[in-house]
Amino acid sequence: MKVFIIFSILFASTLAFPYESSINENPLLMYNSIRLPMEPESRIVGGDQHDIYKYPYICSLQWNGSHRCGANIISHRFLVTAAHCTIGLTPTLLTVRCGSSRFDSGGRVYRISTIINHPDYNSATIDYDFAVIETEEEIEFNEATQPIRLADQDEELPHGHCMKTLGWGNTMDPSQTRDYLRIVYVPKVFLEECRRLYSTINAAVTERMICAGFSEGGHDACQGDSGGPLADGSYDDVRCRFHGKRFAAQPRAAEGRLEKLYGIVSWGFGCARPNFPGVYSRVASVSNWIKRHAHIKDD
Ligand SMILES: *[C@@H]1O[C@H](CO)[C@@H](O)[C@H](O)[C@H]1NC(C)=O
Repeated sequence: MKVFIIFSILFASTLAFPYESSINENPLLMYNSIRLPMEPESRIVGGDQHDIYKYPYICSLQWNGSHRCGANIISHRFLVTAAHCTIGLTPTLLTVRCGSSRFDSGGRVYRISTIINHPDYNSATIDYDFAVIETEEEIEFNEATQPIRLADQDEELPHGHCMKTLGWGNTMDPSQTRDYLRIVYVPKVFLEECRRLYSTINAAVTERMICAGFSEGGHDACQGDSGGPLADGSYDDVRCRFHGKRFAAQPRAAEGRLEKLYGIVSWGFGCARPNFPGVYSRVASVSNWIKRHAHIKDD
């Protein structure tokens, strides 16, 4: 199975350019482990349509004008995304569209001048799946465009904590509209539990990863959501439930504080399958590295 996973990663990397992609024709990609997106018509599984004003930190990262991944604004000049979205690319032809619920219109497009992939990123294990990218011009903040705070270095979250993830990725449901940002709420899964689940297919879950999902599956990030956020769900916590189950209500974010980014959509075994939660890069494991490269001072 390990071979299978690695094979599908290699396969995914050959699809790194949208114009080469044939994602819908290849059955392997249904089980593709990496959430690399290629086709604009992909989306969050089981999500609801949502608008950018509530989640003004997410942008669509685009290669030659095609949606590729999500990216998260962390300051006027920097965003954070997944290294598997940017590895091997030069900034030329790389842009972000921010401030729009659609990946293909609205908001404002900024050119990327610098890509900093995490030096320990490993494309075979998808460990350290982080990249910091810099815009050529300053990102203009407004009600649809705002930064998200980073989790503190080594900050931990309780098991079952309600999280949300957003993106323009694969919905695995052709009836769902393709144009708008989608959101799903997913509870955090213990690292040990996630390790146990993924050990059945010999996939390693490291300390640089955080898992979230329902044991029944059904709600998840998917191909095309890579690089997007896993943020705390306290903004809208009542929706962190599935099949009648409800997870503990979260303490509300303190008044005037922005939401926090705990994870970045990274990989999984398929999308929304039972017993295979989504795996996200754990921001708290490299928070200081991100801040240093994005010139963010501790508050
Ligand atoms: C970029 O997109 C244009 C128009 O779709 C296409 O003609 C061109 O070949 C693309 N370039 C690259 C490098 O993908």
